Amino acid sequence: MQETIIQAKSLRKSYFTGKTEVPVINSLDLTLYKGDFTVIMGSSGSGKSTLLYLLSGLENPTGGEIWLEDKPVHTMDEKLITLLRREYIGFVFQDFNLVPNLTFLENILIPAYLVKNDRKALQDKAKGLMKKMDILQLADRLPSEVSGGQQQRCSMARAVINNPRVVMADEPTGNLNSSSSKAVLDILSELFEAGQSIVMVTHDIQSACRANRIIFLKDGQIEDDLRFDKNLGSEEKEDKLLKWLAEKDW
Ligand SMILES: Nc1ncnc2c1ncn2[C@@H]1O[C@H](COP(=O)(O)OP(=O)(O)OP(=O)(O)O)[C@@H](O)[C@H]1O
Ligand SMILES: [Mg+2]
Repeated sequence: MQETIIQAKSLRKSYFTGKTEVPVINSLDLTLYKGDFTVIMGSSGSGKSTLLYLLSGLENPTGGEIWLEDKPVHTMDEKLITLLRREYIGFVFQDFNLVPNLTFLENILIPAYLVKNDRKALQDKAKGLMKKMDILQLADRLPSEVSGGQQQRCSMARAVINNPRVVMADEPTGNLNSSSSKAVLDILSELFEAGQSIVMVTHDIQSACRANRIIFLKDGQIEDDLRFDKNLGSEEKEDKLLKWLAEKDW
């Protein structure tokens, strides 16, 4: 039995254009498990980003429940959610979202200093992560002085510095060329192998094959749920995923 890490119950999210309610997430039920690398797929506008933002507490639901382990996020005020998010969630954005006037090292250390104050230990940890992500030589650079792939690796280091229960990534390779994408996906695979729970939105088949579970979102609900057997090779995964996606009503 896998441990539950995040649970959404009858989750709803609507946006309002004037007085018209536009439902995006419709009474969605979802359980995410510890140690899984879950990918969210679905057509453009199906609500993938919205769902990820809701699950991470970056957006408030219109209705329903979100549980982070045993914590009822839907009952909490903004302040508490922010504190919980710092500890539970590391978020990687498509456009990196680094602070432009801070160096790489400072960008990684900011969320760490908000949680702990052992500066020396945190600096060492940040540098260790930068080494692992092959950006240690860029510690003193500003985001504008490096490539997109390097910025995304910095944002991955920032996402994991507090040992979050879950790493969430919204199309993390969407703005990257293929070699930078591979480097970012290799880091995610390595984290997954080491037991990190990950939730990622992607359109890309090969990226999705890094996961062990794929969910398909349609009309604001989970339409289907696929698990790869542990022993499948990458080509077999790709075949299986392509067939599964081909049956979907996009
Ligand atoms: N802040 C907002 N205000 C109003 N409508 C929004 C807002 N954010 C998203 N929407 C709408 O909600 C729907 C779902 O958007 P969302 O960004 O979650 O889709 P997505 O599946 O991530 O799409 P994509 O693959 O293009 O990134 C879309 O119709 C979008 O226009
Ligand atoms: Mg999106």
